[in-house]
This record gives sequence, C-alpha cells and structure tokens, in this order.
Amino acid sequence: MKAPVRVAVTGAAGQIGYALLFRIAAGDMLGKDQPVILHLLEITPALDALKGVVMELNDCAFPLLADIVATDDANVAFKDADYALLVGARPRGAGMERKDLLEANGKIFGPQGKALNDHAKRDVKVLVVGNPANTNALIAQQNAPDLDPKCFTAMVRLDHNRAMSQLAEKTGKHNTDIKKMIIWGNHSSTQYPDLHHVTVDGKNAMELVDQAWYEGEFIPTVQQRGAAIIKARGASSAASAASAAIDHMRSWALGTDEGDWVSMGIPSDGSYGIEPGVIYGYPVTCKDGKYEIVQGLEINDFSRARMDATAKELHEERSAVEGLFAK
Ligand code: NAI
Repeated sequence: MKAPVRVAVTGAAGQIGYALLFRIAAGDMLGKDQPVILHLLEITPALDALKGVVMELNDCAFPLLADIVATDDANVAFKDADYALLVGARPRGAGMERKDLLEANGKIFGPQGKALNDHAKRDVKVLVVGNPANTNALIAQQNAPDLDPKCFTAMVRLDHNRAMSQLAEKTGKHNTDIKKMIIWGNHSSTQYPDLHHVTVDGKNAMELVDQAWYEGEFIPTVQQRGAAIIKARGASSAASAASAAIDHMRSWALGTDEGDWVSMGIPSDGSYGIEPGVIYGYPVTCKDGKYEIVQGLEINDFSRARMDATAKELHEERSAVEGLFAK
C-alpha cells in the first residue's frame, strides 16, 4: 500500500463538501490504492456541523481513509497538503454587486493563498471550486509567491461535463463516445463551450449538429445550466459539482486518456491570444501530475469572438481585485 497523501477540503460542512468527501475517502479521486488523510476546514460557527460529517466519515469505515484533521485554522488545514480543494466561499447576498462579491471572496482566498504558500507541499495541486472560481483562484495564487503559479487551477470541469451530456443527448450517443470537449474562459455565463474540435464516435461534432442548435440552444443551455438547476432543485448543483471536482483532480493527478483532453481553468500563458494574468479555461492533457495546454487548434471567427469576450470579463474581474494581491 502507498503512503497516505493529505487532501485539504475547505467548506467541508457545506453541500458540495457532503457530496465530495465520501467519494475522496472511497478512492474515486486518487485511485483505490491511495490512502488519504482528509484535512477539513470550516468557519468556526460550522465546526459542530463538521463534527457530524467527521462522525459519518468514520462510520463508513473506509479502508483508504487513514486519518481526519478537522479545523477552523487554514494554517493547520493546509499543513503539508498534497491536494487542496477550495470549495468554501461567500455566496452572493441580497443587494450585493459583483464587485462586493469579488471583494468578500478576496478576504477568504487571499489568506488561504498565504496559508498554502506557508504550509502546503511545494507541488500542491490546488483546485478552486468556490465562486467566482477563476478569480478566487487568481487571488489565492497571487498571495502565494513561493509556490509555482501553475499549482493554482479553477474548475470548469462541471461545464465540460454538462456540455458532454447535452451533446450526447442531441446525437443519441453515450458520453463515452464523445472526445475533446472544450470550455474556454470563465466559469460564468460568458464561458464558451466549443464543439469545433469535438468528436462523437470519431465524427466531427459540427457535422452532426446544425449551427442554429449550436448557437441558439447548446451554448446557452450549458452557460445557464447552473441557474436551471437552482430553479428546479431549489439549491445549487452539489453532487455534480463534487463529481466534476473529483474528475478534475483525478485527471491532473493520474493523467488524461490517450487521444482525449479535458478542460481546466489554469494560468493563461498567452496561448490562443489570451493575455496572461488570468485563470482561463483551456483544453489540457495531463501526464505525471502536470498539465499542458493543447496547442495548434484552429480557431475560427465565431470562436475567436467568444474566447475574447470571456477573456475580457476575466481581465475586468482581475482589475476589481488587484488590490488584494500580495505586494
Ligand atoms: P454551501 O453554502 O452549502 O457550503 C459552503 C461552506 O463553506 C459552508 O459550510 C461555509 O461555512 C463554508 N465556508 C465559508 N467560508 C469559509 C472559509 N473562509 N473557510 C472555510 N469554509 C468556509 O455551498 P456549496 O453548495 O457547497 O457551494 C460552495 C461553492 O461552490 C459556492 O461558492 C458555489 O457557488 C460554488 N460552486 C461552484 C461550481 C463550479 O462549477 N465551479 C459549481 C457549483 C457550486
């Protein structure tokens, strides 16, 4: 059996946490041969609820769960962390502007970035799920000057999976027949789900669907899926978000399949004309615990306009939070 790795999860008593922790402990994220020590971070008022979650985790008697650390101190939660899933965030309150939301979250992700900087393993893999995920990841990264900027990623995998499911339904195929989906940009309604490079059973997706469905139905459905789930369920997506977080980390840690790629929000490096300085959704392949942007894809005018629009939104978000970066 391998030595246990430390997996930190913030917002551990929340609804995504409840759908996530049991799957991590069951080996869905890092494999059935990898023991884990869970480090659970919550705010002080939620520690009682967290205690209940810890009791349930223990009651599962998971063979792979080596230990649990439950705390309200980020310095303890991120100590020697190999993986960190930053789920806890400040939700938008009544009358709160986007700028207020960005600032309120900055107050969470700035200190957590610093705590990761000071205590986590030097090759820690950080996934930010808490919204606004891309910009929260940027704030954490900018407060962790001693860590490789590439340690910080944001989740667009739920959007990626939603796009796979919509296309599978439309084409009458199974999602396992679909390869090379891409979500470009922000995890927000400006995200751009791109079908131009996708294959369904080996055929190009754009030859199987018409432009009217692509523009008028597919793109808006994927962009608005989070809101549709809130309307139907009366609560935001939790199990599917947790499942996407597991997928993101598993791809990063264990690698992507030959002949396929996944979408990850990662620091832009200028690829595809996206100005550096933001965390942008890109198609990536992963190997040996490292991700690389898929290069050389042809971008038509339709895609270019949408990729630039979501980049513009991210640069605006960046401008709103720059004051929260470590000097
Ligand atoms: P929730 O409100 O059920 O749970 C959040 C938990 O975070 C709460 O238990 C709260 O006490 C905790 N928390 C707040 N501040 C914290 C801090 N500073 N440190 C540690 N814990 C803290 O929310 P839920 O449904 O679990 O969602 C969490 C986040 O994930 C939200 O921001 C939501 O918008 C986001 N989300 C992102 C998705 C994505 O695709 N990127 C998809 C779905 C949700």
